[in-house]
Amino acid sequence: MSLSREQMLVEMGISPIWVLRDAPAAERVEESPVREAAPSVPIAEAAPPAVRPVHRASEPPAAAALDVGALDWPELARRVAGCRACSLCEQRKQAVLGVGDTSPDYLFIGEGPGAEEDARGEPFVGQAGKLLDSMLAALDIARGNRVYIANAVKCRPPGNRTPEVAEMAACWPYLERQIALLKPKIIVLLGKAAVHAVLHDDKSLGSLRGKRFEHAGIPVVVTYHPAYLLRNLPDKAKAWEDLLFARRTLREQQAPELPF
Ligand code: URA
Repeated sequence: MSLSREQMLVEMGISPIWVLRDAPAAERVEESPVREAAPSVPIAEAAPPAVRPVHRASEPPAAAALDVGALDWPELARRVAGCRACSLCEQRKQAVLGVGDTSPDYLFIGEGPGAEEDARGEPFVGQAGKLLDSMLAALDIARGNRVYIANAVKCRPPGNRTPEVAEMAACWPYLERQIALLKPKIIVLLGKAAVHAVLHDDKSLGSLRGKRFEHAGIPVVVTYHPAYLLRNLPDKAKAWEDLLFARRTLREQQAPELPF
């Protein structure tokens, strides 16, 4: 089933769109920056790219650090559940590995578990998760079907603070291994922490949106975190554009000779 544009906007909670344009400008706050990032290289603009230069992460693969580079899913899950690589393990109820189709088209990566996720062991089950589900519905997908959802860190940062750079670095080998096992056709980074974890980039989201990056040969695109969108309604329309860009990028990947 494919939805009309209007239906998709409704699914994302951004219809009628003129309501969003009336929202107070004071609410437009960029997501807070993540510290100590190394730059990445954007590879293509939202307009159809003439060439497809490759973004290469500026930091080397880190799977060796935790020796997880050869683990299968059950062993990876076991290692994540017992991980003590950073201090986030001290206050977690449980580590949250991820959820969904293990041969997905889309991999969505968020920041880290919140209180509800920590309690239930599944990413994005709170308010932000409801919006993420609407975003997925707008793409005609649902968790468990063509999509896998993970986070930059597997353990809840106390008070839902942004994960520290060192915490994301400690957790990166697990995410890197997940990506290698999943082999998604496209990765969608939700917010600055995910951008930092995967692309090692600290530029504003506004400057990274609409560009195609790459990790391990997989196209990567960037959009706003659903929790940010809940506080900044006008940017939902931009997130919608980003999802269309993601879908176009996925389709180009699957059938590069067809115009989209
Ligand atoms: N926010 C995230 O980034 N991830 C979750 O799992 C929940 C909220």
